Amino acid sequence: MKNDLGMHTREIPSSGEPLPVIGCGTWKAFDVGKDAVSRAPLAQVLQTLFENGTAALSGRHSVASHLIDTSPMYGRAEAVVGDLLEAGKWHEKAFVATKVWTQGRDAGIAQMRRSMQLMQRNPIDLMQIHNLLDWRTHLETLLAWKKEGLIRYLGITHYASSSFRELEAVMRAEPIDFVQLNYSLEEREAEERLLPLAADREIAVIVNLPFGAGSLLRKVRGKQIPVWVKEIGCESWAEVLLKFVLSHTAVTCVIPGTGSPEHMAENCRGGMGATFDDALRERLIEFWDSGIA
Ligand SMILES: NC(=O)c1ccc[n+]([C@@H]2O[C@H](COP(=O)([O-])OP(=O)(O)OC[C@H]3O[C@@H](n4cnc5c(N)ncnc54)[C@H](OP(=O)(O)O)[C@@H]3O)[C@@H](O)[C@H]2O)c1
Repeated sequence: MKNDLGMHTREIPSSGEPLPVIGCGTWKAFDVGKDAVSRAPLAQVLQTLFENGTAALSGRHSVASHLIDTSPMYGRAEAVVGDLLEAGKWHEKAFVATKVWTQGRDAGIAQMRRSMQLMQRNPIDLMQIHNLLDWRTHLETLLAWKKEGLIRYLGITHYASSSFRELEAVMRAEPIDFVQLNYSLEEREAEERLLPLAADREIAVIVNLPFGAGSLLRKVRGKQIPVWVKEIGCESWAEVLLKFVLSHTAVTCVIPGTGSPEHMAENCRGGMGATFDDALRERLIEFWDSGIA
């Protein structure tokens, strides 16, 4: 599905709600103080994101809000997101995802309440258990919170393929709406079991580290993108790497992290226009693995 401004959306399987395929990660870049100089570019990052995804959709869900992913682990990022959404009157444009990242029931509840305050959101759209830390305890709370309407969706996250066995066990056994995991042209282990399983179990997939925390883009710095991706309208490596991730049909949304409005604009293009078919996907994998990058 495509909205009027050109950003593709995909449905959250557990609800049918459309989500624009490009969101924004806040690790590092959004951990700043209150000064205007630090915050101005971040406001522009969010504005750029929202400008690319606010057109009306047809049907039951008429608006698609962009996912912003944060965590209490990311220093001041939750407060910065909350303040910027408030100042820009952007709350409705944002699908806010944060995490619980602590041990114990009471500590988890206290942390999540604080996140709600900092982000000035009630309900929180998506609450995730960060890196599966004390997940059994928090899952119980999240299921209750979802029933009470304090959160709309619940999920689990990790950033390392070494955790995939544990992610898989939770995905198989528990009623989660979302899983967030690492997947990129370089790290493709999620294709083996987790992405097919997510499709089977109707779990939405958020992809983190699409640029390997920037390392993939550093590898290709100064190198031309292949002519056969240019031919379908791609202009940058960032766009190519995001389109690769999105070419897996089990992926719902990808959240490149950035503090740069120019990079955000470039990243939004990864969710627009032509998509990669299987043949193009395979060609790109071969190209990347051949060491040309
Ligand atoms: N366990 C977890 O739950 C977990 C773990 C890891 C990440 N995450 C989430 O996933 C998000 C994404 O991961 P990440 O931020 O670590 O890594 P990433 O998205 O793979 O890469 C971010 C890096 O790429 C750069 N970048 C972004 N867009 C660019 C562009 N168009 N051109 C050139 N450089 C660009 C950024 O620098 P600039 O600021 O200069 O653009 C930053 O250094 C995080 O922000 C976080 O929200 C969650």
